[in-house]
Amino acid sequence: MADNIDQGGNLAASTGVDPGAGAVDKRRRRTLIAWTGAAGAVAGLGISGPFVMSMFPSERARAAGAPIEVDLSKIEPGMMVTEEWRGKPVWVLHRTEGMIERVPSTDGAVADPESRQPMQPDYARNELRSIRPNYLVLVGICTHLGCSPSQKLEVGEASGLGADWNGGFFCPCHGSKFDLAGRVFKGAPAPANLEVPPHTYLSDTRLLIGEDSKRG
Ligand code: FES
Repeated sequence: MADNIDQGGNLAASTGVDPGAGAVDKRRRRTLIAWTGAAGAVAGLGISGPFVMSMFPSERARAAGAPIEVDLSKIEPGMMVTEEWRGKPVWVLHRTEGMIERVPSTDGAVADPESRQPMQPDYARNELRSIRPNYLVLVGICTHLGCSPSQKLEVGEASGLGADWNGGFFCPCHGSKFDLAGRVFKGAPAPANLEVPPHTYLSDTRLLIGEDSKRG
């Protein structure tokens, strides 16, 4: 029997047992339980079949890239929320007046201060990389190898990034830093600023991400 146990303590193939089978079976069981639970909940609510079926196309559309709407009234100044669009995290940061004023102070330290690289729609090709100064909308994926940077909105030592840190984002994978407009600092492994997705405002408090053809 000892011959059937490898150095990692796993049961070897000679027993005829697939070491991964247990995990797969557990996953299948969990999936089945989840579906059964969902079906039970639907049945309990007395929701009809056609209604249930009608939910699936919208989910498919969302996954395929349908625009998403964000209620800005729930995002206080200084707060950031993460939404999902096309399977990617999209950040919406409500910048304070102080944050807006600090962006120009990093112009000399970032690699592409004028956003010359095509990492944003034309309407966001400005110093703040936004349509409205107080809202920054970014795809939260590092332009180096695709990690998700952390928000480092605090200023100075409290951020853990040094006394002269003015707020922004830090990618822990290889140390790329981005300012409060998503502009990458010089010398970082990330080759470009964070991406600004297409977006537009439907009203003072309604932001649409993934669609900008309705822009006035
Ligand atoms: S993936 Fe962000 S620095 Fe490498």
